[in-house]
Amino acid sequence: MNPLLIDLPEQIETERLILRSPRAGDGAMVNAAVIESFNELHPWMPWAKRILSDEESEIIQRRSQANFILRQAFNFRLLLRAGGDVVGSCGLQNFHWEVPKCEIGYWLRTKYYGRGLMTEATNAVMSFAFETLKMIRIESETDERNQRSKGVLDRCGFVLEATLRNHMIGVDGSLRNVCVYSRIAENGTSSH
Ligand SMILES: CC(C)(COP(=O)(O)OP(=O)(O)OC[C@H]1O[C@@H](n2cnc3c(N)ncnc32)[C@H](O)[C@@H]1OP(=O)(O)O)[C@@H](O)C(=O)NCCC(=O)NCCS
Repeated sequence: MNPLLIDLPEQIETERLILRSPRAGDGAMVNAAVIESFNELHPWMPWAKRILSDEESEIIQRRSQANFILRQAFNFRLLLRAGGDVVGSCGLQNFHWEVPKCEIGYWLRTKYYGRGLMTEATNAVMSFAFETLKMIRIESETDERNQRSKGVLDRCGFVLEATLRNHMIGVDGSLRNVCVYSRIAENGTSSH
């Protein structure tokens, strides 16, 4: 099935969050969350190399919006149901539709750490991936030292498959081990 034929929900709602596709006009508000969280994002997220201008952030939002519509990446913006504040992002990318499989990635605004919000968002994105997109495998690669990210994966039922030794260079220039996690569809088959 051509992924363009998959009907996408307008938004996904969980107990505390609204997950919606990126939109033109999101640039400044997402950038504010990233700037506030820069010190925690910089060690782990390859894109968090420097602080961006709102205009640069807007270009990224519009590219994400286009990718969402084209079914090339689904980077959900996470908004608090109570008040609408930007909490972070949780998304699916690197699709191999012939399997079909993809990768999941996420980041949280620092002031929202420790409340289970990313676990809640990840569980919702996993349901979207398995039920709407019919994925049979979802992967995540994380730095072996990223305990908080590993915590999210453990809570969401991912299995550690391997630890790749000396697999990448961290932002500080040191060699890093990378943990490969996955979750697979329960019946192991796909309707695509
Ligand atoms: C990875 C990241 C999203 C994890 O954030 P987090 O706040 O630890 O994760 P959650 O939102 O799921 O919250 C879990 C914490 O809330 C607690 N919690 C409170 N209520 C909870 C609930 N209802 N459900 C689950 N956990 C709950 C958990 O006990 C846990 O606390 P602990 O860290 O003391 O064990 C965050 O650290 C981050 O953005 N890091 C930078 C970006 C990054 O590394 N991304 C991943 C790259 S691979």
